[in-house]
Amino acid sequence: MEKHLLLGQTLAFDGCALTDWQAATRHDSAGGVLIADGRIETVGNGSALRAANPEVPVTDYGDALIGAGFVDAHMHYPQTPIVASWGKQLIDWLNTYTFSQEMRLADPAYARAVADTTLDLALAHGTTTLCSFCTIHPGSVDAWFGAAAARGMAVVGGKTCMDRNAPDGLRDTAQGAYDDSKALLDRWHGNGRATYAITPRFSPTSTPDQLAALGALWAERPDALMQTHLSEQVPEIAWVRDLFPGARDYLDTYEAHGLLGARGLYGHAIHLAPREVDRLAEVGAAVVHCPTSNTFIGSGLFDMAGLAARRISIGLATDTGGGSSFSMLRTMAAAYEIGQLRGTALHPAQLMWLATEGSARALHMGGSIGHLGAGATADITVLDLASTPAIAQRAARASDVWEALFPTIMMGDDRAVRDVWVGGRRVVT
Ligand code: GUN
Ligand code: ZN
Repeated sequence: MEKHLLLGQTLAFDGCALTDWQAATRHDSAGGVLIADGRIETVGNGSALRAANPEVPVTDYGDALIGAGFVDAHMHYPQTPIVASWGKQLIDWLNTYTFSQEMRLADPAYARAVADTTLDLALAHGTTTLCSFCTIHPGSVDAWFGAAAARGMAVVGGKTCMDRNAPDGLRDTAQGAYDDSKALLDRWHGNGRATYAITPRFSPTSTPDQLAALGALWAERPDALMQTHLSEQVPEIAWVRDLFPGARDYLDTYEAHGLLGARGLYGHAIHLAPREVDRLAEVGAAVVHCPTSNTFIGSGLFDMAGLAARRISIGLATDTGGGSSFSMLRTMAAAYEIGQLRGTALHPAQLMWLATEGSARALHMGGSIGHLGAGATADITVLDLASTPAIAQRAARASDVWEALFPTIMMGDDRAVRDVWVGGRRVVT
């Protein structure tokens, strides 16, 4: 059996940190993580683990913080080349920058190159799992899962389906979306570490027929995830109202077509009506907070406290390229800032939980990824809490781990990522 022992500070969670972070958090300033055959065997006291495993190779990270790898619960890998594009709000941004870029992924070699770049950037930023929209082209899904398999990474993805309000070359049909999605689901779902998500882009780009076809596929394959967008911007919601005059609200456009369920992931979910919140809570669906995107595209302030109080599952995500950063640290900082604007200061433990356990639970992978605990796959990120002079001078004054960690959350980037492990193997980034 191949074993490895990591020593350092450890940060683990057991329970929901949004509800009660003190009860859910386990920090050990002299901890250890024993990896055996790609999985975490034990998290415990570093010296005790070393004494009990004298033959096992050791990597000693000193004061660095060993935690679960970050989980990015909503992003668009095809948009990596257009990240940080200036000056547009959602619908204009899609029409100006996004659709022309997504068209380029008709070329499978280009799609693979963009997937490779995205995953290398993600790993360099400490992100070990990503849930991505692909493009309308089936080859973009093969590229995504192929690139992830080459790195041993657990990723989620799906063919983005659109049969209206998109340019020529970027539209399929109701039947074509069903057929392609079914074939890709059969090929990839559960293949190695791959998970398939049925992916209608959002209601404005799907006819009711297409939504119904994808709802029918989900009913046939309820083990798949389903990802889409919900109530991101006010003009988008008005457009949905015009396109679906019979719908009670935006969520109803999904619900009426079999696309509301516990394994559903609804990105953004900012401007929700009370009925939508009630239904998301009732069915146990997950929403995904994309804070850098929501400020960058000018979408609005996600109601973390309100949704958490309803016990709705919440993931955290970059939403690249609508989001402006590949870093889950920067994403946590933006979530903190949006919380402040809404009068709720998220604790560093809650931010770290959202970026690991919270996102993993939203993806229905809690306990197996995003988790520093026995039985989880050894996807691990080690953070240097003094990665720049500005961070180091602030961390030097810290009186506890949270004060030491918070400057890295607020000011850190890929320089803070000391090491990354995927499936028990150290990744060279
Ligand atoms: N809504 C529909 N498509 C998209 C997209 O690609 N990015 C974002 N942020 N919102 C969307
Ligand atoms: Zn998105």
